[in-house]
Amino acid sequence: MKYAIIGGTGVYSLGENFKEISMDTPFGRIDFTVMEKKGKEIVFLPRHGKGHGCPPHLVNYLGNMWALKEYGVEFIFSTVAVGSTRIDISPGDLVLIRDFLDFTKSRPMTFYDGANGVIHVSMGEPYCRMLCNEIIKRTNDNIKDNIVYVCTEGPRFETAAEISFYRQIGGDVVGMTNVPEVVLAKELSMCYCTVGVVTNMCTGLVSEEASGLEIISIVNKRKDYLTNLFVDILLNGDLRTDVCSCRSSLIKV
Ligand code: HPA
Repeated sequence: MKYAIIGGTGVYSLGENFKEISMDTPFGRIDFTVMEKKGKEIVFLPRHGKGHGCPPHLVNYLGNMWALKEYGVEFIFSTVAVGSTRIDISPGDLVLIRDFLDFTKSRPMTFYDGANGVIHVSMGEPYCRMLCNEIIKRTNDNIKDNIVYVCTEGPRFETAAEISFYRQIGGDVVGMTNVPEVVLAKELSMCYCTVGVVTNMCTGLVSEEASGLEIISIVNKRKDYLTNLFVDILLNGDLRTDVCSCRSSLIKV
């Protein structure tokens, strides 16, 4: 069985034993790194490409998820940087995302564009229940659960009025990259979960906006904790595919 960790903003260091892979997909070439630990293969995929080159609205989401599926990945842990719309969620906090509100505008969104008939994908449980449970078992009070993620198009940040609106409709955190990634994982029947690292208070909640350096530094402080958490789950967790809906979410009409 193969596993993947998708990293966003910030750098994920992998130790020494790893190989670099370049895979051609119908959506372009995707580069990732594979590490072996106790006989298990762990893929590290930098969402924005090598060196954080690609802005959120131009990330090759289709290519990234296709490459993971093609490589044989079944379980995906992803990390995202988010701003908080709530005064009780602060920079440095970790959040477990369970649902999303999609405000993206121009991204390719699906593998099912009609070539093989009409296929819908259920969003009753966008994030894998089994993987989320494994995270909760190990993090106790260190993570805030039941978080609703708002995905904006970016690359601009939001206005204060937009943040006030997102808060009123139930959004807890805001980012630019989790949609369509979470949807594409489900379309390809892979178990997928997301932990957010809160890097700033959203626009209008504090007088000073966070700088790019502050955002990167907060993510970097959390990345070792998260990588260790994910590796612990994939080495020691009770990873089953029959307790979630990730492999039975496609609806053909
Ligand atoms: N808004 C959108 N995306 C983000 C933010 C934010 O405040 N912080 C980190 N990613």
